[in-house]
Amino acid sequence: MSTIVNAQRVHATGPAEMMKWEELSLAEPGPGEARVRHRAIGVNYIDIYFRSGLYPAPTGLPFVPGQEGCGIVEAVGEGVSAVKPGDRVAYVGPLGSYATARNVPADRLVLVPDGVDDAIAAGMMLKGMTVQYLLRRTYRVTPETVMLFHAAAGGVGLIAGQWARHLGVRTIIGTVGSDAKAELARAAGYTHVINYRSQDFVAEVRKITEGAGCDVVYDSVGKDTFPGSLDCLRPLGMWVTFGNASGNVPDFSPGLLSQKGSLFMTRPSLFAYIAKRADLEATAADLFDVVKKGAVEIQLNQTYALIDAIAAHKDLEARRTTGTTVLLP
Ligand SMILES: NC(=O)c1ccc[n+]([C@@H]2O[C@H](COP(=O)([O-])OP(=O)(O)OC[C@H]3O[C@@H](n4cnc5c(N)ncnc54)[C@H](OP(=O)(O)O)[C@@H]3O)[C@@H](O)[C@H]2O)c1
Repeated sequence: MSTIVNAQRVHATGPAEMMKWEELSLAEPGPGEARVRHRAIGVNYIDIYFRSGLYPAPTGLPFVPGQEGCGIVEAVGEGVSAVKPGDRVAYVGPLGSYATARNVPADRLVLVPDGVDDAIAAGMMLKGMTVQYLLRRTYRVTPETVMLFHAAAGGVGLIAGQWARHLGVRTIIGTVGSDAKAELARAAGYTHVINYRSQDFVAEVRKITEGAGCDVVYDSVGKDTFPGSLDCLRPLGMWVTFGNASGNVPDFSPGLLSQKGSLFMTRPSLFAYIAKRADLEATAADLFDVVKKGAVEIQLNQTYALIDAIAAHKDLEARRTTGTTVLLP
């Protein structure tokens, strides 16, 4: 038996219009899977990388984009005992969430605690767990850490400012693309905000740090902030390059890291940090904790109908969004 669902599907990669609204037949959940009826679906910049072809879809073409959602378990396959029909769950998982319902590997699901609503849960799992590992595992920030976080008013950025403030970090420098975004970033905990479209962010960081540079730079912009991000670091500082909203960082020789001060570089991905079930549970629990106690507010600033996913992608790519974006089925 199968279930009919509606989904956005990409048959050929390219601009946002390549997503087509279609009716699909969803098979019964297989062994280890659960069928989740979505209540809300998270939109992430990585969805654009797959849709545009910057990242090849592991499933090949056609594919249903999206890797994050919240919904109700409707049915489970053989061997699934951790969740049951009726449970309210959220996940970060394989491609396929831009659909009214889908099958998800059950070991990727977490129960959503009371007090966290559907749209917030859908919009915070990927971005929030990313901030958790960036600040608490990749480079463990302390109150003394001097950090720079690019795209501070974006989905990941607004969570990062609040979480860093909650951890007591005293110098949280953010970059943004407009003055309106600067206000949002300041309200989210950034102690210094630079508009990198009108200011030289390297010179500004040097001024703020009195020439010392940062301990860590979290860089998801990629091409446009390279190699400037390296010049914002102190000797032996860490460059965490974790995204490419402006395009890929060009190839370079490791000698550059030596010239810029024996720097460390890492190119992390959330999926590696939560690959083990225990890590997923600990990371999600940490996120739910800061959200439930109000230390981090998920700023859901854009909501679109799932059928209008094209508009959501266009706005995200054109830098018109702030905070979190979700699609409602
Ligand atoms: N590696 C991981 O584990 C991981 C996980 C989650 C997200 N990420 C990365 O983190 C970044 C943020 O993700 P998000 O979903 O929260 O998106 P987002 O920050 O809400 O949106 C991207 C932002 O990047 C900035 N940007 C700078 N140059 C840009 C350009 N040329 N085109 C478009 N945007 C540009 C824009 O802010 P301004 O206008 O203020 O510059 C834009 O709003 C993305 O690069 C994503 O790939 C990585």
